[in-house]
Amino acid sequence: MSTAITNISSLVTNDPSLGDGPLGLVQDAAVVIDGDRVAWIGASSKAPATDNAVDAAGRAALPGFVDSHSHLVFAGDRTAEFNARMSGQSYSAGGIRTTVAATRAATDEQLEANLLRYLGEALRQGTTTLETKSGYGLTTRDESRALRIAAAHTDEVTYLGAHVVAPEFADDPAGYVGLVTGEMLDACAPHARWVDVFCEKGAFDGDQARAVLKAGERRGLIPRVHANQLGHGPGVQLAVEVGAASADHCTHLTDADVDALAQGTTVATLLPGAEFSTRARWPDARRLLDAGVTVALSTDCNPGSSFTSSMPFCVALAVRDMGMTPDEAVWSATAGGAAALRRTDIGRLAPGARADLVLLDAPSHVHLAYRPGVPLVSAVWRAGVRHQ
Ligand code: NIG
Ligand code: FE
Repeated sequence: MSTAITNISSLVTNDPSLGDGPLGLVQDAAVVIDGDRVAWIGASSKAPATDNAVDAAGRAALPGFVDSHSHLVFAGDRTAEFNARMSGQSYSAGGIRTTVAATRAATDEQLEANLLRYLGEALRQGTTTLETKSGYGLTTRDESRALRIAAAHTDEVTYLGAHVVAPEFADDPAGYVGLVTGEMLDACAPHARWVDVFCEKGAFDGDQARAVLKAGERRGLIPRVHANQLGHGPGVQLAVEVGAASADHCTHLTDADVDALAQGTTVATLLPGAEFSTRARWPDARRLLDAGVTVALSTDCNPGSSFTSSMPFCVALAVRDMGMTPDEAVWSATAGGAAALRRTDIGRLAPGARADLVLLDAPSHVHLAYRPGVPLVSAVWRAGVRHQ
């Protein structure tokens, strides 16, 4: 079945061969969807005949957001910790253990219902692809069930057994790395596409992180790294060294870190929800973009450091506080996320791409930053299916 969406005032395609600038902007556009794919893009007045027609009535459209970093298999929340932070306490990775206890105590059904709630929330805000991780189980049983539950709802699943050292191994971190790279990996690898590690003081050092990523690679998983979130450290350069798909956070960077990213193929994924919710300094997107680094924007949605599922909110923060232009932020939240997930079928609108499209109650994508906090997403198509 084919559908033409006509009278789009301004369409972001992210395909410079279809329109103006890096966003490939087309004015007065139409998009034809056939099945789960984009079949045609061009001037609204030239749209071919289709089975269905949707009049966008002058709204803007863009590719569905690609949220390439979230932690959605968890139970409980950390309101008290957030309250304490907003009264002056600082964020510590130790809070992860609170969520680990709640997650272990939850049933599969409770974890799945929670995941579906946040996936639904994200979809309503325009997210059509969402990566999510384990990392709140930290036992073979709890990590593998988290991944199994996640894999039932998204293709982009990441094994993060190395989130923090499990409480049972507090006195034996090497023993925990042995578990994460051995029995736990064996149980988890069949459910995941990616392997991740929190490389940070208080979590895993460079050598431990390298061991985790290399073991994951031997089991067919592709590395990505939580790097340089809370302070300087080896994470970013390790990510580039192992050819990771992305280095995520990138808040505290030396010139050597920026150079390494600029010379490598690793995408820098910035997560402004975390800096917002922990009152930390902002990552410097401008510095990375000026150095030629590919930048993605994602939510990091999790109950501790960033409890937002809203990509529009992250776009607005990135423009207001990280030196990005609205065009750059929208590119990073769509095409940038696709690059971080090594996908070419999403994050752009062109014939053959998956039909993931967001219609905004606004005349231009710039309004995502210009009108922060306003629910502008008026319709979402995911793989050709309209969701609202
Ligand atoms: O990406 N940095 C490590 N992990 C999460 C935080 C998890 C938590 O606090 O529960 C993050 O910010
Ligand atoms: Fe994270």
